[in-house]
Amino acid sequence: SFQPDHILRVTAQIYSQACMERYSVLVNGSSPGPELRLQEGRVSWIRVYNDMEGLNTTMHWHGLSAFTAPFSDGTPMASQWPIAPGHFFDYEVRPEVGYAGTYFYHSHVGFQAVTAGGALIVESAQPSPYEYDEERIIALTDFFAKTDEEIEDGLTSANFTWSGETGAVLVNGQGRVATNASGLCKLAAISVEPGKTYRLRFIGATALSFVSLAIESHDLFEIIEADGHYTKPVKTSYLQISSGQRYSVLLKAKTEAELQEARSRQFYFQLTTLGRPTVLTTFAVLEYPSPSATDLTTVPVTPPLPIADIIHGWMDYALEPYYPDPNFPTAEEVTRRIIINVHQNVSSHVIWLQSGYDWVETFPMSPYLVDVYNGKLDLDDSYERGIASGYGFDNQTRLFPAKMDEILEIIWQNQGAVNTGNVENHPFHGHGRHFYDIGGGDGLYNPEENEKRLSGTHPVTRDTSVLYAYRRETEALTPSGWRAWRIRVTNAGVWMMHCHILQHMVMGMQTVFAFGDEADIRAQSGPVAEGYLTYGGSVYGNAT
Ligand code: C2O
Ligand code: CU
Repeated sequence: SFQPDHILRVTAQIYSQACMERYSVLVNGSSPGPELRLQEGRVSWIRVYNDMEGLNTTMHWHGLSAFTAPFSDGTPMASQWPIAPGHFFDYEVRPEVGYAGTYFYHSHVGFQAVTAGGALIVESAQPSPYEYDEERIIALTDFFAKTDEEIEDGLTSANFTWSGETGAVLVNGQGRVATNASGLCKLAAISVEPGKTYRLRFIGATALSFVSLAIESHDLFEIIEADGHYTKPVKTSYLQISSGQRYSVLLKAKTEAELQEARSRQFYFQLTTLGRPTVLTTFAVLEYPSPSATDLTTVPVTPPLPIADIIHGWMDYALEPYYPDPNFPTAEEVTRRIIINVHQNVSSHVIWLQSGYDWVETFPMSPYLVDVYNGKLDLDDSYERGIASGYGFDNQTRLFPAKMDEILEIIWQNQGAVNTGNVENHPFHGHGRHFYDIGGGDGLYNPEENEKRLSGTHPVTRDTSVLYAYRRETEALTPSGWRAWRIRVTNAGVWMMHCHILQHMVMGMQTVFAFGDEADIRAQSGPVAEGYLTYGGSVYGNAT
């Protein structure tokens, strides 16, 4: 009989993080959940049980292309029905060849991903182009004192209540909340041995935080991977990583002689949040073996490193793929440009809109992809309407439909909040398959100018890149920054493209694209998983 390769169980319970108790959604009883290691090109079936009461869930394999099984992408009401309590869903996860690297998985329901997720590493049969002795995973998450429900209710109610700012950026689930004076709470330790080279895999699994991080007395990193693809080596002394992004860097550990000189065997990782009204600095420890007892409970009184500021356009046009893609479509090949203006407005509640549309008031009655498989949603008709609209958006289905082999440019244009004039940074994430990240900048997107900046470089393919706020405006709706993606439509399915800040997602900052039509989708996916077409998935327990 059918045996899944991995089993994930989602529960909701009181859980202690950063020495604070909080009712949290967990995967296999912890946050982060178990680390998954999958093989490039090989199918793994991952069964997700919803052991919660009264809460739906789904699981998303962040950054993996799900084109061989679009029904396994894990987006509620877009690619699938949510998994109801007492039900399970079998996900068919096949990391695409060429996608070996650093990923994560997380629930795609509400604010659950603040705790419900874990590292996902895609291994390759090919040797890495970079040499290193060992690797360490450094997953960043946020700690919020309020529960998911309090946060979701506050953000979506007529009486808008903000979630509050991050209490602490946690490293592999550990850290200290600044306001919690308890000296017993341990920082995360990343253990290294003298003289070795490490691949540090940084995972931006934060809900909100955009983080700048550096390591005390260790000046140089070498970036070698961005979002699951090797890059040419780029030297930097710090990383700037948003929610949804991943980087691998090579770190050369100090030699024994250097350690003698440094007279310490513990060094702080310093993590500073960027672009928020308040600056939060939290710590983890890089730890060398030591004969004396280690101290993980002390936080420096003064941060050892300067407090980082945001660097707009960090690594834009500087990161280059290790294996340049011969299929990178040129500007002349672009068939359509879709410009999506992102702004915040206040109607019955505060919402984030994409050119007038959001994903709160427009939630469909049944999932788009289920409707496609059931013959209830004709994507060819939707495409006709999208084209007729002149903007690419089908107002009837509220989709951005595209045909196979089209070459799209998706331009996110940052317009800030109508009521306050504030402009924020938004890490935009694309499902389905990685996009060519062709840059970003201030003001309005200008294709000719961007082409000049691009020329001679090879854009990296990634799944999350930042739409920066170039300035805070006193007048709303003034263009303040753009981010441009180029996409070759080769992956049939229903794919969300959204800001990866969980608060913004809850407030509507999500769009849905449909690539190909029913025939294309069926041709790529083959038969769908059991229980797929019905609400809740498959039953196992005392489902009601
Ligand atoms: Cu990691 Cu649609 O998200
Ligand atoms: Cu956002």
